[in-house]
Amino acid sequence: MPFTPDAQLDLAFSAELIPSEVTKQLPAELHLRPLASTDYRRGHLDVLSVLTVVTDPGEDAWRAQFDALRAAPRTYYPIVIVDRPSDRIVGVGCVFIERKFLRGLGCVGHIEDIAVDKSQQGKKLGLRIIHALTAISENSGCYKTILNCSDSNIPFYEKCGFQKKENEMCWQA
Ligand code: ACO
Repeated sequence: MPFTPDAQLDLAFSAELIPSEVTKQLPAELHLRPLASTDYRRGHLDVLSVLTVVTDPGEDAWRAQFDALRAAPRTYYPIVIVDRPSDRIVGVGCVFIERKFLRGLGCVGHIEDIAVDKSQQGKKLGLRIIHALTAISENSGCYKTILNCSDSNIPFYEKCGFQKKENEMCWQA
């Protein structure tokens, strides 16, 4: 499939919210942009399966989920890195903006579902994804940006500028 420029895509949010300082650090063959309504066909779920078990819901259900995320404006910021020659997704991530009543009606960014295709790991794509998401979170006015990760990923997030703080509690359904 030939590379599809942003202008021909239906994006989850405006690409202008992704800082050019981050995108210009990518190699020329890679493109960082918001998730698009047709990214099911570009291997979005394949990349997510690097992170955890993914059950393919089919394209229609995937699209309904995309529409549900976009129906909550200024809340979900899913991004992808696309390999231009193949028009396939090689990296994904999302920041979700939580609005609070405390801290002067402040908000918190929650980074979720970061994954880089195995063939592309170790090339700073994860770092670029995190920098793009933290910039979106800060530009949304969030007073902090947080995430959960395994012990083995702590060094990666430290390299991205995060510090370990507090603990995660989980009610397993
Ligand atoms: N342990 C130690 N250092 C690491 C690790 C690690 N597990 N992963 C990356 N680093 C270091 C790199 O060596 C690099 O260091 P350098 O700047 O000194 O060269 C720096 O962190 C940046 O690494 P990137 O090349 O940007 O990492 P990559 O593109 O491979 O992405 C990621 C890292 C996202 C963890 C990737 O390996 C991956 O997809 N793993 C499987 C899925 C996963 O665990 N995702 C994170 C889940 S947590 C969440 O989603 C909130």
